[in-house]
Amino acid sequence: MAPGVINVASVPHRSPFRYPGGKTWLVPYIRQWLKSVRNRPLEFAEPFAGGGIVGLSVLFEGLAEKLTLVEIDQDVASVWRTVLSLQGERLAAQITAFKLSDKSVRSCLSSEPKNQCDRAFQTILRNRVQRGGIMAPGASLMRRGENGRGLASRWYPQTLACRIITIAENRHRIRFRQEDGVQFIRNNATRNDVAFFIDPPYTVAARRLYSHSQVDHEALFWEISRVRGDFLVTYDNAGAIRELASRFGFDTHAIPMKNTHHEIMSELLIGRDLTWARKPLQLREDALFEGLQADGNTCR
Ligand SMILES: C[S@@+](CC[C@H](N)C(=O)[O-])C[C@H]1O[C@@H](n2cnc3c(N)ncnc32)[C@H](O)[C@@H]1O
Repeated sequence: MAPGVINVASVPHRSPFRYPGGKTWLVPYIRQWLKSVRNRPLEFAEPFAGGGIVGLSVLFEGLAEKLTLVEIDQDVASVWRTVLSLQGERLAAQITAFKLSDKSVRSCLSSEPKNQCDRAFQTILRNRVQRGGIMAPGASLMRRGENGRGLASRWYPQTLACRIITIAENRHRIRFRQEDGVQFIRNNATRNDVAFFIDPPYTVAARRLYSHSQVDHEALFWEISRVRGDFLVTYDNAGAIRELASRFGFDTHAIPMKNTHHEIMSELLIGRDLTWARKPLQLREDALFEGLQADGNTCR
């Protein structure tokens, strides 16, 4: 592992998604951030939630009392709505009962979902069998998958069901909203009991990865500048974004990460004061153990 690059296997995987551009690897930084703030936030909010791995980690590790996930994509929303409704157990049962084959996958993905739970199931399946977990139109099915296991290579039904049930058991502490993340930030900017983790679609690669990839970055920065609580924003380390951050007087700090092609890239953290991010990262041994288990057939 290159110096400073987080090994994702060291982080417990708590989301049912394998999300393109997902931030599992950032979780050790998130812990360091929240442990550095004087008043721990009551609520943690992810206005561009995607797979919600950061928020779920914060909630389950007791770093905030409540979690709000906000996502605009209808399919992704169907998963969060189902998991957080009384249908969560039904979705988990549907996943464990599914007999995965080339034919059953194609048939499920080409059918029109009859209800929200069916749409949620279809979304999870698509996320697990398409290349890179990409659910946007134009993405194709994996052919070889990992170790030549083809379509089944990322389909861990027991693990997924377990993660869904664990989230469902905590539904009284999690709320989901399908809306524009920028609008959500605007509506909650005056609250000082909320910490925002803001991970918008990236400037360059987003079009291929998400159905909703266009964000007015300048308008987003403007809304963030009005936030009373704490916040952390993450972006690809692009000149235009560094320039925007500087214009709004934000602190920036670049950190190394590995992309899905195992190339070392630079990720830009943006906040009010990132002193905590410049300190050596404290890694947790227990998380390493949990994480390794999470990747197998048990969820924790
Ligand atoms: C980089 S991904 C977030 C990944 C997430 N942090 C994770 O770890 O799984 C960005 C997400 O923002 C969503 N999105 C795009 N435009 C949005 C908007 N205006 N409001 C809310 N969500 C939006 C996309 O659908 C995508 O799921």
